[in-house]
Amino acid sequence: MNASEDPIGPAQSAPDAQAAHQPQQAQSGALLLDVRGIDVGYGDTQVLWDVSLDVRRGEVVALVGANGAGKSTLLATISGLLRPWKGEILFDGNHIERMSAAQIVRHGLAHVPQGRHVFAALSVEANLKLGAYTRRAGSSRAIAEDLDRVYHLLPALFERRNQLAGSMSGGEQQMCAIGRGLMTRPELLLIDEMSLGLAPKIVDDLLGAIDAIHRQENLSFLLVEQDVQIALERADRGYVIENGHTVVSGPGPELLTSAKVRAAYLGE
Ligand SMILES: Nc1ncnc2c1ncn2[C@@H]1O[C@H](COP(=O)(O)OP(=O)(O)OP(=O)(O)O)[C@@H](O)[C@H]1O
Ligand SMILES: [Mg+2]
Repeated sequence: MNASEDPIGPAQSAPDAQAAHQPQQAQSGALLLDVRGIDVGYGDTQVLWDVSLDVRRGEVVALVGANGAGKSTLLATISGLLRPWKGEILFDGNHIERMSAAQIVRHGLAHVPQGRHVFAALSVEANLKLGAYTRRAGSSRAIAEDLDRVYHLLPALFERRNQLAGSMSGGEQQMCAIGRGLMTRPELLLIDEMSLGLAPKIVDDLLGAIDAIHRQENLSFLLVEQDVQIALERADRGYVIENGHTVVSGPGPELLTSAKVRAAYLGE
């Protein structure tokens, strides 16, 4: 796709701090995501049992656990890719457990799936604009403003806006996938295994970008991480999931010092 074929049109300008900043109106601390008693699985195989979790507005919540524990399954259920067998999911007070994934995105909940899927043969900017197709308000002017906002939050994407996404490094592709999620104007961003396979320096950069987005936009995050240390030291709160059950939850730094977590995940 080149700019002239693009139905949305090219971005008008470089990032502009004034235009990019859109302060959150909603009150911090109110319940945003409320997952209650979820059972779910694939075919006849149950993967999650009675899983509950919540995210308050403005919080960064980490979900940690071993391979196969059910972390991605839980995110897929929240974002409408899987139907729960039992339980309820409320987002900003609305039941979303029977909504389609597209409806859920329009309610302000975006999911960056595991494996940072970007469209390799499209430019960074085209990838970002694809995120905008699923959003709520879709005028080309609003989309151009949001593109500026995302470039302001993630300046590395602005520098690489014309580069093919498939030619970028793993960390840059992860940033592009996060940028695409931001283009949906989310209130809550679910990110699955952001740090997987990335060098520590790149992970630090990405976490720094998330911190900045969190501070500037009061966006809420639910971060799934296998790297328990990384996740819990940053999070306001964390949940540990083991074999499809939530086993412990609490403030991130407190969980990090819990004997159970240290024994299970940090080899102590
Ligand atoms: N599409 C699917 N069909 C059948 N079983 C699946 C499917 N996706 C996942 N599973 C199974 O569900 C269980 C939980 O998988 P899930 O991907 O949710 O775990 P995870 O905690 O995200 O693991 P990882 O850390 O490896 O990403 C595993 O036993 C897995 O084999
Ligand atoms: Mg997973």
